[in-house]
Amino acid sequence: MTMRPYPKSGDLFESERLRTEQLAPGAILLRGFATHEAPALVDAIEVISNSTPFRTMTTPGGRKMSVEMTNCGDVGWLSDNRGYRYVPEDPVTNKAWPAMPIPFEDLAKRAAAISGFENFLPDSCLTNRYLPGSKLSLHQDRDERNFDAPIVSVSLGSPAVFLFGGQCRADRPRRILLENGDVVVWGGPARLTFHGIAPLADEHHPLTGACRLNLTFRKAL
Ligand code: SIN
Ligand code: FE2
Repeated sequence: MTMRPYPKSGDLFESERLRTEQLAPGAILLRGFATHEAPALVDAIEVISNSTPFRTMTTPGGRKMSVEMTNCGDVGWLSDNRGYRYVPEDPVTNKAWPAMPIPFEDLAKRAAAISGFENFLPDSCLTNRYLPGSKLSLHQDRDERNFDAPIVSVSLGSPAVFLFGGQCRADRPRRILLENGDVVVWGGPARLTFHGIAPLADEHHPLTGACRLNLTFRKAL
């Protein structure tokens, strides 16, 4: 086996930098930031969903969402006919949500810090599961108590087109392909950016098959 020469530190920095893209002030895309951890994250999601299953939720308006969701952490995000909110217990199991695994919290903190948000302490992790055709309409994350902390979003498995808009719903969103291990962080001036996921294509990924998983870390309380 021949070894490629190890890049000079300048080259290494350059290639790292190129994999980081500022989407807007306060919004950073970290390509491949979680690729090495991805298999362990997928295994941990499997364990979580064995005790608190993925389920489809309905919007306050009564529309069934196509994405399946579950949570871990001190509180979990819910949507039903009473509205959007964070609750400490899963209404399906009537038990507390599973604790956030340390490697989840650690990843979220590292991604936030490298994006300029020091001391991020997530207390909630929403886990989304998309199958071919599943989508998430443009929305803002605004059910948290305040908007001081960023949102950290980790993509796993099949690729998806992330819709990243502006501060108004009508702003035309950019379409950004997110692949296994990509992490997006948005906070500060970008904290209330409208975002969503275009209908998932039917693509096989070795880690997850046709499905995409997404972890969204928030400081809800
Ligand atoms: C979300 O906005 O809750 C998730 C976005 C994603 O799946 O990438
Ligand atoms: Fe969101």
